[in-house]
This record gives sequence, C-alpha cells and structure tokens, in this order.
Amino acid sequence: MILSFFLQILVTGLALAQLHPKEPAIYQRLPSLRERAHIQDQWRDERISTIPSLLKKYNIDAWLMSQREHAEDTIWWSTKHATDYDAHRRTVVLFHANKSSLAGHVNPLMWVDNTGQVWPELRATLESYNPKRILLNTDRDIAFAAGLHAGELFVLQEELGHRWMSKTVNEPMLAVEYVATKMSGQLAYYKKLQETVWAMLEEGFSQRVIHPGVTTTKDVEWWFLEKMQEQNVTTWNHPRISVLTEESYPGWEGSDDIIREGDILHIDFGITAMGLNTDTQHMAYVLRTSDDILETDAPESLKEGMRKSNRMQDIVLENMKVGLSGNEVLRVCLEQMKREGIEGQIFSHPIGDWGHDAGSVIGFLNLPEFVPVLGELPILPNTYYSVELYAYHFISERNETIRFRQEENVYYVEELNSWQFVRGRQERFHLIDGRKQQQQGFTVQNFS
Ligand SMILES: *[C@@H]1O[C@H](CO)[C@@H](O)[C@H](O)[C@H]1NC(C)=O
Ligand SMILES: *[C@@H]1O[C@H](CO)[C@@H](O)[C@H](O)[C@H]1NC(C)=O
Ligand SMILES: *[C@@H]1O[C@H](CO)[C@@H](O)[C@H](O)[C@H]1NC(C)=O
Repeated sequence: MILSFFLQILVTGLALAQLHPKEPAIYQRLPSLRERAHIQDQWRDERISTIPSLLKKYNIDAWLMSQREHAEDTIWWSTKHATDYDAHRRTVVLFHANKSSLAGHVNPLMWVDNTGQVWPELRATLESYNPKRILLNTDRDIAFAAGLHAGELFVLQEELGHRWMSKTVNEPMLAVEYVATKMSGQLAYYKKLQETVWAMLEEGFSQRVIHPGVTTTKDVEWWFLEKMQEQNVTTWNHPRISVLTEESYPGWEGSDDIIREGDILHIDFGITAMGLNTDTQHMAYVLRTSDDILETDAPESLKEGMRKSNRMQDIVLENMKVGLSGNEVLRVCLEQMKREGIEGQIFSHPIGDWGHDAGSVIGFLNLPEFVPVLGELPILPNTYYSVELYAYHFISERNETIRFRQEENVYYVEELNSWQFVRGRQERFHLIDGRKQQQQGFTVQNFS
C-alpha cells in the first residue's frame, strides 16, 4: 500500500517531467545468436507452462492444433523453439489440463507424422482423457484464434468423427491472451531494442545522413534498412518516410521527395529481434540555414503541434484501463480530446510477438470511433501496446493543417495498474542542420 503510494507519486512526478530521454541513445549490442536462442527458449518454456492455467480459466480441457509444414497454426509461432523454422510434416499438438492422467505428464502431447499413425493414437488419447471441451482455432474474425487451416479441419472431421468433433468449441480469448502476455524477462531486451530504434532515429534524422537539397526520403528509408542489417536486427515492415504536408496523408508508402530546408519529416518503422517487434513514428525538422536565415530550432508553431500529439498520448495512457474494451477507451479519449479542444485520431494496437499483436485495438485508421470485434476485446495486462495517433494542428505560416503523427511503445506496470513508455517519447523534433554538416565535414552519402 505504502509502496504503491510512493510509486504513484513517482509516476505522477514523471508525468510532469520530460519523457524525452535526456541522453542520446546508444546502439545496443544484443547477445550472440546462440545466446539469444537460449534466452528465447527460456521465455518459450515459461509461456508454455502458463497454458494449463489458461485452459482452466476458460474451462477448456484440451487445446488441439493440427498443422503441416508451410501451413502452420498462427499459435505455432508463439510456441516454437528459436531454432525451429517451420512445423515438420503434419504436426499435431494437444495441450491438456489433466496433469494426472496423460503419459509422463508431458504437456503438450505432440505427434510428427506423415503416415496417418497419429490418428488412432490421438483417438486413444482422447478416449482415455475424455475431454468435455476441446478448443480448436476456428474463429471467424480473430487471426490468433483462427490458425486451423481448412484442409486440417476436414481431416479432423474425418478422423475424429462426431464422437470428438461434437466436443469442439471456439474460445478466441484463450489464444489472444496466450500470445499477448509477455514474460517479465522480455522487458529488459525490449528496452534494448527500443534504445537501438532511438539511436537509428537520432542518426538517420541528422546531418550525418541527410544532406538538404540532395538526399531523398527514399534514400533515408534504405539507410534505415541497411542500418538494421548492420545492427543484426530485421524488420516486419519496410521503413516509410515522407515530407509532411497537408496532402501527404496517409502516405503509407512514404513519399519520394528531395529533402529540403524547412521540411517536416516523418518516419514509421519497426525492428525485429529475439521474437520481439517495435513500431515507432517520429518527426524531424530540417533547419533553414541558407539565405541569411539561421534557424537553430523548429518553429514554435510546429512545437505546439507536437505538444498536442503528446497530450493525446497522455490521454490514451490515462484512459487505457485493463479490462475496458478498446472501444470504451477510445470513446472516453475522444470525449476528453473534445473537452480539451484537440482534434485528431487514435489508432493504437498491441505489439510484441507481432508488429500488430494479439489483443484489443483502440481505433483503426478507417474506423475512428468504433471497431467491431477487435475493438470489443478487453485490454489485457502484462502486455505491450503501440500508442499510435495524430493531432491536427494549423500552421499559419504554411497555411496548412498538418497531422502530427506519433507512435511510441508502452508496457504494463502491474504494481501501478498503468502503462509506461519503454524508452520515452518524442517531445522535441530531431533536427537536421546543414551548417553543421559542413563544419563537421560530413560528405554527401552515396545512396545508389
Ligand atoms: C484426468 O484423467 C483421469 C484418467 O483419464 C480421469 O480419471 C480424471 O477424471 C481426469 N481429471 C480431470 C480433472 O479431468
Ligand atoms: C553483428 O554480428 C556480427 C557477426 O556476429 C558481429 O561481428 C557484429 O559485431 C555485430 N554487430 C552488432 C552491432 O552487434
Ligand atoms: C490558405 O489556404 C486556403 C485554402 O487551402 C485558401 O483559400 C487561402 O487563400 C490561403 N490563404 C493564404 C493567405 O494563402
């Protein structure tokens, strides 16, 4: 009680303090591939050990997956060893809740088969176990609970017959909760990934990489991709960079502009390593340093725009209560924005095993006020979210309304029942200063 009181004060203090990290980010070296695999397999074992209690929670006796190489169940990717790259032959997996009965307490039971031998054995196992409710991943809407391929369903119908197919059920939240829940040991590595993301942003959005009047947005996109290679991480999504204007939206593909002084740049990108994914959007400003104008910072009007999107981030985090649905969170956020006179849009999503992970979404770009199915799921604890949104702000000197687009990743802090930024959030524009380029002797990068 007292501890949580002090933590509350600490967090309130942090909320008022700057959340933009004070120190520049440093590229974080990950362990060797062998060590990463070892760590990931420990997380895997820890996750799998939670399945019996999840079965109990959702009143399921057995969770059955049948899959073939190249037609894996979506869940397979969140149960595999780090050194597995696909399911072999036909792989049948049976997670069960009965510790007493099944051979050697093995959980899951697993068959790798290409002769049909699995079916009599599976039938005999079910016969001795006698599950009342067998979960199959056949949901119509939620991908994480829908990984049973149609061909496998036909085979199960034939091989298990009415005797067992009549016991099958759909319970999508079990799969969602399994995939969404993060192990506590993952956070330290997620923080490293996020610091690497920021190091890339601080280098990529600087005069080291961008030469105003020469470098294009596409050049910088490929710089980011090459940088990932150098840092031994991959991605789930091509980096997309655009010059922000009133028209440049949605700009999912990025733009192909020569970057010029006075431009507002925007990036949306993520990295992947150790089974974890990031998703970040930041903005940069190219200082005007020619023609006797010597800017040293972004114009006040742009800073105001970022303050609005920062305020929207606060609003989302304050309202993102575990147990509420994404749609309920969205509604109260939109109401609060209205009261505070902020216009914009929220489209935040879970992140983790996948860039777009299992769980409830808070808005969608094309569904700004209510999201059927995915928005109706509850916000889960012990998971990560990507707080993705934009605020509209009119920039009078440009005579344009710009969308201030930001995205930062947060994690759940159980003791506080609230969310915190994994590294921090952008509160200042990354600045590109052509003068420093000359002073510091950076040459124009050859991007071709
Ligand atoms: C576990 O399996 C045994 C043997 O099949 C059975 O007798 C028992 O009722 C099962 N327990 C539960 C909790 O299902
Ligand atoms: C990337 O991996 C290579 C090969 O193991 C290694 O030499 C290099 O130092 C690694 N780079 C970083 C930034 O971790
Ligand atoms: C600003 O833009 C609006 C429409 O986008 C236009 O009607 C108006 O004339 C512009 N104002 C100035 C001062 O350029």
